[in-house]
Amino acid sequence: MTQNNAFRLDDRIAVVTGGGAGIGRGIAETFALAGARVIVADLDAAAAQLTADAITEAGGQAHAVAVDVSNEHEVIALFEQVIGQHGGLDVLVNNAAIFPKKPFLEVDTAFWDSLQAVNLRGTFLCLREAIRHMKAGKGGSIVNISSVSSMQAVVHHNGTYNATKAGVNSLTRTTALEFGPDGIRVNAVLPGGIPTPGARTASAAIELKGPIMGEGRIPLGGIGDVQDIANAALFLASPASRYITGQLLAVDGGFLVS
Ligand SMILES: NC(=O)c1ccc[n+]([C@@H]2O[C@H](COP(=O)([O-])OP(=O)(O)OC[C@H]3O[C@@H](n4cnc5c(N)ncnc54)[C@H](O)[C@@H]3O)[C@@H](O)[C@H]2O)c1
Repeated sequence: MTQNNAFRLDDRIAVVTGGGAGIGRGIAETFALAGARVIVADLDAAAAQLTADAITEAGGQAHAVAVDVSNEHEVIALFEQVIGQHGGLDVLVNNAAIFPKKPFLEVDTAFWDSLQAVNLRGTFLCLREAIRHMKAGKGGSIVNISSVSSMQAVVHHNGTYNATKAGVNSLTRTTALEFGPDGIRVNAVLPGGIPTPGARTASAAIELKGPIMGEGRIPLGGIGDVQDIANAALFLASPASRYITGQLLAVDGGFLVS
């Protein structure tokens, strides 16, 4: 029996946005364990550094970069820096997002625009810049972190966020179609409710009408964890999924089929 290396990312250069906390941190650590050199890009410079330090201390390769994904100049600079310092780009995970909640009739344009700016414009900007470099290089694999909320309302007061994630799904499919011939794969992971620092804050900020994800609606039972999402992201980033693109993979214990 020989070892199956299809799930390895040895010597791949991988950018993970929002890698300073929660799901992004889990993805960064999982990719590093699989052999990748990980660029941990986060608005919170200290958090990004903590993730990079944890990876380095465990024997992996990581670098922290402070970036606001909603800022065009910063995103352009991030990818130029990655190419300049590391010589290429193989994998991008668009994970950074915010998810404050507001009753629909209280949503003003400032609130609407703030979520669009990070979740959808940020994903667009990182996609555009990464694809520019991947197209000029050896192609690559991109994983967008969407949400089950892109497909179902799931919790109250989440309409603005849900619309951003539906947009992420659409960008996933359209870029997969356009850049498949360039050897660039684009897929999305749709997590169910996962305990993270951000999820706890968002849930505590508003009195939710009913439980998140609806109790009893998860066929596999229980709530998933960060590692469940990171494992799916690793599959989609790695050569194990080399013939897969444009797909939306729900990692939700079966919630969306219930
Ligand atoms: N946790 C869940 O239940 C859940 C469910 C479905 C989808 N998701 C998605 O998973 C992803 C990660 O969520 P999480 O729960 O780990 O969030 P989190 O809030 O715990 O972590 C998000 C990280 O992104 C960073 N970030 C925020 N805005 C940024 C910006 N403008 N530029 C760069 N970095 C920025 C934060 O500093 C933080 O480190 C998001 O895309 C989220 O929408 C989460």
